[in-house]
Amino acid sequence: MTRRSLFFILLLTLFSVGGTRAQAPSQTSRPQSRTEKPLAEMIERALERAREQSLILSRALEPLEGRLPKTTDDAGRLVTSDPGWWCSGFFPGVLWYLYEDSGDERLAAYAEMFTRRLEEVQYITDNHDVGFMLFCSYGHGWRLKAPESYRQVLLNGAASLATRYDPRIGLIRSWDFNRERWNYPVIIDNMMNLELLLWASRASGDARYRRMAVSHADKTLKNHFRPDASCYHVVSYDSRGRVEKRETWQGLHDESAWSRGQGWALYGFTYMYRETGHRRYLRQAVRVADYLLGHPSMPSDGIPPWDLDVADPQTALRDASAAAVIASALVELSDHVEAPRSARYRAFAERQLRSLSSETYLAAPGENGGFILRHSVGFYAQHSEVDKPLTYADYYYVEALLRMKRRLVR
Ligand code: GLY
Repeated sequence: MTRRSLFFILLLTLFSVGGTRAQAPSQTSRPQSRTEKPLAEMIERALERAREQSLILSRALEPLEGRLPKTTDDAGRLVTSDPGWWCSGFFPGVLWYLYEDSGDERLAAYAEMFTRRLEEVQYITDNHDVGFMLFCSYGHGWRLKAPESYRQVLLNGAASLATRYDPRIGLIRSWDFNRERWNYPVIIDNMMNLELLLWASRASGDARYRRMAVSHADKTLKNHFRPDASCYHVVSYDSRGRVEKRETWQGLHDESAWSRGQGWALYGFTYMYRETGHRRYLRQAVRVADYLLGHPSMPSDGIPPWDLDVADPQTALRDASAAAVIASALVELSDHVEAPRSARYRAFAERQLRSLSSETYLAAPGENGGFILRHSVGFYAQHSEVDKPLTYADYYYVEALLRMKRRLVR
């Protein structure tokens, strides 16, 4: 054998190993444009994989009465939660979305089965996550099938969430733990719970819910952001509604830009604009989007490191969940802004979706415990759900695919 043919065999071996195995995410993981499939085809393939995985996960979950998917353990086995975990609504939401897209009644049956497991959430008053939990599960079930019982669960959930609004402060209190550290903590994630209140206001005619949502968004806009449009994770208020602390809980440090938090901000202000028409929310969403797209730590494939202030974004763990949230928000935001900004947002979201749909992130059929995406970061400092699949990564990924798909066929 010549040295030349040996060299080619070596190259071929390297290529086939690297091409069939899930690889650690890297700066160069974005596919080359000359090999890219048309976007519509890429989306259909990704949705097909999402359906396949979600049916696998549904079958595994069906006999586990009262449980919802959470992540996988280090051996890749499914880890579940009870309905009180803040993520309980995302998997039912994935199923509702996939049913909406495909009309596959098996998905609807599982969506109903797992949505019902969240029934008790309507009475949760000890944290703010009721919006995430109910709007992503019952909310889609109501939108698609409109059973009266779902409407009542959503209205009860909104009433529970509203108990956490203090009119003297004008915000919904996020958490009750760590009382010695924070008097009245509000986290940027809380922007995501307002959609339930806006819906409840329309559904019930009770304008109080809408006033709470608008007040919460306005105070968040005023107090959570730095001059560069990045945001703090936790802002705590004193009993007169004055800011007492600006800190982090899940980010790298108090002054850092925790990637998923920036995603919650972008997504939150984008839908607040859609729902209220207030241009101050649109301006804020645009500021956050421009900050994210122009950030020096944002890799060319659009999948951010788990915090934008990590020392070395080249080697830091990526967070697929942050990318999915950002992609979904950007697709929507691109409708509300003029060219060339609109095209820039859409192109960036496309890049993110192509990366998430590559074999680096999109799980092979039957793998990843039935979850759709790999490589998310839940809570880095607590070594919890680090470089793991997460239901909210899957939820916002599927939502982003569907949002993009709808805009292609218009
Ligand atoms: N809402 C909690 C998180 O984003 O991790």
